[in-house]
Amino acid sequence: MELMMHLHRNNKRQGPGSEDATNLAVTLAKIDREKSYKIADIGCGTGEQTISLAKMLKGNIIAVDLFEEFLEKLKEDSKNENITAHIETLAASMDKLPFEKEEFDIIWSEGAVYNIGFKNGINYWKEFLKPGGILAVSELSWITNCRPKELEDFWNGEYAEMDTIAGKIKALEEAGYKVLGHFILPDDCWLDNYYNPLLDSHKDFMEKFGDNEVARVIVERDIQEADFYKKYKDYYSYGFYIAQKL
Ligand SMILES: C[S@@+](CC[C@H](N)C(=O)[O-])C[C@H]1O[C@@H](n2cnc3c(N)ncnc32)[C@H](O)[C@@H]1O
Repeated sequence: MELMMHLHRNNKRQGPGSEDATNLAVTLAKIDREKSYKIADIGCGTGEQTISLAKMLKGNIIAVDLFEEFLEKLKEDSKNENITAHIETLAASMDKLPFEKEEFDIIWSEGAVYNIGFKNGINYWKEFLKPGGILAVSELSWITNCRPKELEDFWNGEYAEMDTIAGKIKALEEAGYKVLGHFILPDDCWLDNYYNPLLDSHKDFMEKFGDNEVARVIVERDIQEADFYKKYKDYYSYGFYIAQKL
């Protein structure tokens, strides 16, 4: 985890996404951009989407991540932005949050809930949402009903809850949410905003940690994952799910 943090900490994103995608999710959630909200952004990384939200919305955003180093970069980067919401940071684990019951109007989480499992995360976080509150979460999902075996084996080996969009929507409904909308992240979210900057950062990372076997494995996995994405992007992406607590 420490090595992963070193590799990712100078990048704007630690997973696929974009300001346009965050904006579309805000629109689908029918969030009133003039009102003030209490928002948690869980697994925020270096906070590209936190800053996007803070430019689009008003109120307070608590940005949560396991790594203080990511939160420091978020604080630094947000200084130069024209933000309208206040950002606070919190170093904590997303499965042990020090929040009150029904504290938040909105819970946001881009590409991070898989760390504690989708079903576990959406159920656990629900207790912190006010009734009628919004959950906006992006999650790796199959976007077709069948797929090549090599691909299926790879992602099923990586993530036990790999499922279709319909499966993710069912999980949200079973957890007590009404699904307001969903969409699939396009290529630029993966390549321009995530894999290309990540692959570019391998050179510096290997200069520092090239003697470390784990570091070499991380780099090889990134390259394999990016190649897989380019080969099989018709079959999977991140689904962005916007749901409301009943
Ligand atoms: C794939 S990254 C996504 C980051 C960011 N939301 C983005 O889209 O660029 C997942 C993030 O979850 C964080 N993370 C992993 N396990 C966590 C945990 N147990 N609690 C809080 N954050 C965690 C990682 O540090 C990382 O920043």
